[in-house]
Amino acid sequence: MSDIETLKAALKDLNAEYAKIKTLPPEQRGQFGREMNKKKQKILAEIARAEETAESANIEPLDVSAPTAPNQPLPSLKLGSRHPLMEELNRVAAIYANMGFDIMEPFQLDDEFHMFDSLNFPPNHPARDGYDTFRTAENFIPPAHTSTMQHRALKKYKHRLDEGGEIAVVVPGRVFRNEDADATHEHTFYQCEGVFVSRDATMGQLFGILKRFFELYYGQSLNLKTQPGYFPFTEPSAEFLIEKPAQLGGKGWLEMGGCGMIHPNVLKMAGIDPTVYHGFAWGGGIDRLAMLKYHLPDVRYFESGKLDFLEEF
Ligand code: DAH
Repeated sequence: MSDIETLKAALKDLNAEYAKIKTLPPEQRGQFGREMNKKKQKILAEIARAEETAESANIEPLDVSAPTAPNQPLPSLKLGSRHPLMEELNRVAAIYANMGFDIMEPFQLDDEFHMFDSLNFPPNHPARDGYDTFRTAENFIPPAHTSTMQHRALKKYKHRLDEGGEIAVVVPGRVFRNEDADATHEHTFYQCEGVFVSRDATMGQLFGILKRFFELYYGQSLNLKTQPGYFPFTEPSAEFLIEKPAQLGGKGWLEMGGCGMIHPNVLKMAGIDPTVYHGFAWGGGIDRLAMLKYHLPDVRYFESGKLDFLEEF
């Protein structure tokens, strides 16, 4: 018998002895009970000590440089999980996919043409500065918005128009801006772009899609409104806002992104005749969607690498 088993047997005997209390005259019972309790506490403490010793004796020293055995997960190994923003990105993509949109992914390094020229930014126009782009020594641009994919989406799916169909694409992905980070701004964040072209596309359809999207994402009806905006690639252009749902602790309006009717020059550059086809496009931040959903006060948590934060999801 190990020490622990002997101690546990002693505890059992002690419990049996307790029964004697009934046979004692009442004036002796108090004293008896106190003594029994003392003995019990002593045995319990000894068991705890013995268990601790046994446990540490069983621990094999860990060779951190040893290769992992194939197909044998270490019992103490914590498995990673998908980053909360990746989950949101997938959720956003799934909502649009269910509405019938094709999904494209943005490039991680893009160029001047897709970032600006193909989107009707005039050469050397100050609007280019508004995007705080990073540049590599070779003059590649990590995309500052998912709109870099508009031209590619239009070209890739143009054949659908010739076949009597329409272009319906969304582009969820990571974007970068050379900005100082604060509670609502990050240098690295996520957007989802939408592009739709048909013979009779209208702003009304665009707002319908946006409203439906937000309702599906938050699982409740909410109000959407727009205000005038300016983007070289849309005319007219607007910004869209949602009224923060009361259940999400909300009050007031939150700006969610930009949108508008695709500028005829953008369609033309992709080889689509703007006198026959019309399109609308929109782009909005995903971090912002998630911040509201999870009551997050600071967007920087997402890129902080703080495990205790990430494990909450
Ligand atoms: N790309 C814009 C931005 O990041 C947002 C945007 C505005 C996207 C209008 C669009 C659009 O597709 O039509 O600020």
